[in-house]
Amino acid sequence: MGTERPEERTSRRDLEWWRNAVVYEVYPRSFADGNGDGIGDLAGLRSRLPYLRDLRVDAVWITPWYSSPQADGGYDVADYRSIDPLFGDLAEAERLIAEAREHGIRTIVDIMPNHVSDRHPWFRAALAAGPGSAERERFWFREGRGPNGDDAPTDWESSFGGSTWTRTTNADGTPGQWYLHLFAPEQPDLNWQNDDVRREHEDVLRFWFDRGAAGVRIDSAGLPVKDPALPDMRGVSGYVPGTHPHLDRDELHDIYRAWRRVADAYDEPRVLVAEVWLAEADRFAAYLRPDEIHTAFNFDFMTAPWDADRLRRVIRETLDTHSAVGAPATWVLSNHDITRPVTRLGRANTAFSFDAKSFGTPTDETLGTRRARAAALLAAALPGVLYLYQGDELGLPEAELPREALTDPMHFRSGGVDPGRDGCRVPLPWTADGRAFGFSSAADDTTASGPHRVRHDTAAAPWLPQPDDWGGLSVAQQLREPHSMLLLHRDALRLRRSEPAFRDDAFRWLEAPSPSVLAFARGDDVICIVNFGTHDLALEQDADILLASAPIVGGVVPPDTTVWLRTACSTAFISTAPIGIPSDGAQPE
Ligand code: GLC
Ligand code: CA
Repeated sequence: MGTERPEERTSRRDLEWWRNAVVYEVYPRSFADGNGDGIGDLAGLRSRLPYLRDLRVDAVWITPWYSSPQADGGYDVADYRSIDPLFGDLAEAERLIAEAREHGIRTIVDIMPNHVSDRHPWFRAALAAGPGSAERERFWFREGRGPNGDDAPTDWESSFGGSTWTRTTNADGTPGQWYLHLFAPEQPDLNWQNDDVRREHEDVLRFWFDRGAAGVRIDSAGLPVKDPALPDMRGVSGYVPGTHPHLDRDELHDIYRAWRRVADAYDEPRVLVAEVWLAEADRFAAYLRPDEIHTAFNFDFMTAPWDADRLRRVIRETLDTHSAVGAPATWVLSNHDITRPVTRLGRANTAFSFDAKSFGTPTDETLGTRRARAAALLAAALPGVLYLYQGDELGLPEAELPREALTDPMHFRSGGVDPGRDGCRVPLPWTADGRAFGFSSAADDTTASGPHRVRHDTAAAPWLPQPDDWGGLSVAQQLREPHSMLLLHRDALRLRRSEPAFRDDAFRWLEAPSPSVLAFARGDDVICIVNFGTHDLALEQDADILLASAPIVGGVVPPDTTVWLRTACSTAFISTAPIGIPSDGAQPE
């Protein structure tokens, strides 16, 4: 208090880096391929670290890179302590973490407490050891129901479609017990009442924290604990919070408190980031209490339609919910599970829901791109943590892939109805032309070891086909275009870092001249205005524009545009008679 030396203040700010960081999500399989086999890898990612530095991201969250049969893009882990040979090896992961840090970029790794792969040694041991064994206690093995045990133990439905239960076969070939999997059959659920499960995960955290990982992203964080009575769910209309058979059970909080103790034991405390989908704000906030998880993804924001009222409400509720527990908000526009913003925002229904996905939805990508640019500046101007999914900074659309190219279990387990998530996982274009638009042409890596020393001279095709016109969206091309999506992102992230107004949480709503305009102030002198309406909006004459998602000519903000202004004046910054709308401000929309 008062006597604190400046360097102490600096270091505290540094330790709290996660409160206003820009975190870039890397889906390694699709980021950059360093050895020409058509699959992204750690050599490719290492070679592109300068790109991420120049974009000015503070951290990367890398989706699973562990040894895995890849039944669900690596979210089926066979061994947390080794890297899948597709991507590289452990030594290379350590080098990557260290090199990223030299570029000022921290690394967050992905941990899946809900399940492991069916090829994980624990699950294989459980199958071998048979019913009643300690090995089976780490999972949810049950006898079937019905006369011969032919019916699944519960009526639960998997989030990938179909039952959550798969029957095993005994050593003598007879049908055996069933095991639980909330996702694919290749992802058996762990039993968190079992001490081995708890100990193992805390060890895995330490394993990666000891190797320099700055934090973990906790996959499906609301799902790991189950009601041991395994009650049926069909016909139940609702649950008292905390009593759902497999979502948001109260016992989860103990697990994450223990993880927080592990994270806090480091000189630079490590950070926990949760993937938790919950409708009730207070239940969500409970995970973010000071002795639990640091931050969680804001799926309300991510799934919201492109609508001023809805986004105003989501932003207001988000800020209220988080300030009640002292946690920073997060702003997420997409990830590796979600329809790309350029596509989603160019459709009649701009909200995201897994259930609404279908093949052949009409899309206006020009409109979608315009809105995605505006959405990017909105998200980047809000206080808290910004998440950016690889390729969104290039404005990649969701790719419409031929059915025979699809790989996602979500597609197959929906009976082919859901297009699945491959469309947002297509390998990135780095160059305007050339093989795989530069995805597979990263520099030779003389330090790679193991299988990665072998370069494939005859390059394989990328693991998912890239649309023919993606050269125009490539990094190289966009670096040449002053108004490209990439340079818009670079400018936004540069200002987010350099403007003092963005450094703390100060946020104030401003009165807007129309309900279809969002306006707020950050700090003393930065204002963000988003025009969601269909009419132009006039700025005060002397407005000083810091950045805009579309050209501002003569002080006019066109529809679907975000602008950042510098002004010392906190009110009446917009004329009360926006061009094209009635002067009473009522907008007939
Ligand atoms: C999370 C991941 C998703 C994965 C699922 C099962 O939702 O983001 O990609 O399929 O968990 O691990
Ligand atoms: Ca590769």
